[in-house]
Amino acid sequence: MFKSKKLLAFLLVFVLAASVIFAGCQSTKDNSSTTTSSNSSNSSSSNKSTDTTKKIKIGFSLPTMREERYQKDKAAFEEEAKKLGAEVLTQGANNDENLQNSQVENLITQGIDVLVLDPQNAESAATLVDKAHQAGIKVISYDRLILNSDPDVYISFDNEKVGELQGEYLTKLVPKGNYFVFAGAPTDNNATLFKQGAMKYIQPLADKGDIKIVFDQAIKDWDPNEALKLAENALTANKNKVDAILAPNDGTAGGIIQALAEQKLDGKVPVTGQDAELAAAKRIIAGTQSMTIFKDVRVLAKNAADIAVQLAQGKEVKDLAQVNKTVNNKKIDVPSLLLTPVVITKDNIDKELVDSGWFKKSDLYGN
Ligand code: GAL
Repeated sequence: MFKSKKLLAFLLVFVLAASVIFAGCQSTKDNSSTTTSSNSSNSSSSNKSTDTTKKIKIGFSLPTMREERYQKDKAAFEEEAKKLGAEVLTQGANNDENLQNSQVENLITQGIDVLVLDPQNAESAATLVDKAHQAGIKVISYDRLILNSDPDVYISFDNEKVGELQGEYLTKLVPKGNYFVFAGAPTDNNATLFKQGAMKYIQPLADKGDIKIVFDQAIKDWDPNEALKLAENALTANKNKVDAILAPNDGTAGGIIQALAEQKLDGKVPVTGQDAELAAAKRIIAGTQSMTIFKDVRVLAKNAADIAVQLAQGKEVKDLAQVNKTVNNKKIDVPSLLLTPVVITKDNIDKELVDSGWFKKSDLYGN
């Protein structure tokens, strides 16, 4: 009798233990099924799980770090992402699309959840969007639009407006005369939009014969040295007879104004700019550059980091509060956020650039 009781007790304990172990196996399987559910919702994240315990990893790929603004993009993006508990891998590609391609492929193998891509080449970067999507990674087209592809979100400034502000400013100041028209890199969709916007003001006056466009050239890779060389040649070819110059950004404006200075024309010929670089702000105060366009990339980067984290957490693009319009990239209407650029001249430089903390007063005027 006693033996059978012992056996009974042993069996009871055994059954109890088995049921506990079985219950444990059941819960992990659920999680994986949860991942499955999110997978089905969007095509681009075929095998990327929104595992909330895992630290979000963002790949931030920039075309270059040469222009001052990219230092600010990087700092503001990393600061915001860190605040949101995400890790950022930032890469600058030295204006080299092959380097950017390999950097992005490397970021993908490092298991990023979202790719924030500012393309060196608007067309060839389309393959990077596909590669990221095949790995289940969402893509944000940052500052420059990636063409003929399916980025999930595009975030930038109203770049045609940038050009309009430059063109309007210059034609108001110089409604008649000889113009040099410079454009940014042909591989950069922004350069096309800037020029398009500026020509809305310049072309009608040229058609009327008030303005004569005596030089019209794009600058490879936005290279300031290339801009210097082109401006020197244009001044020689036109015997220094120029009344106004459309320079697409501050970097190239610096090269062009150096060429003017060699002919003692600096400060005598209005020159535009963009990016509110420190050297340009000083030239505006000195009178050798007429204006620049302020694009607060701190706001751009903050929004991009915020959107990247939301996407990594599985939020649908249609539910993103910041995305308020679409921009067509020759393939799709990309859900977008476009920020507003501001004209900077001698008159509002302190208000817009010092009061906003973009520069310290001492940066501009010394101690
Ligand atoms: C553009 C950008 C400008 C300018 C340029 C050179 O795409 O919008 O701010 O800096 O690239 O890198």
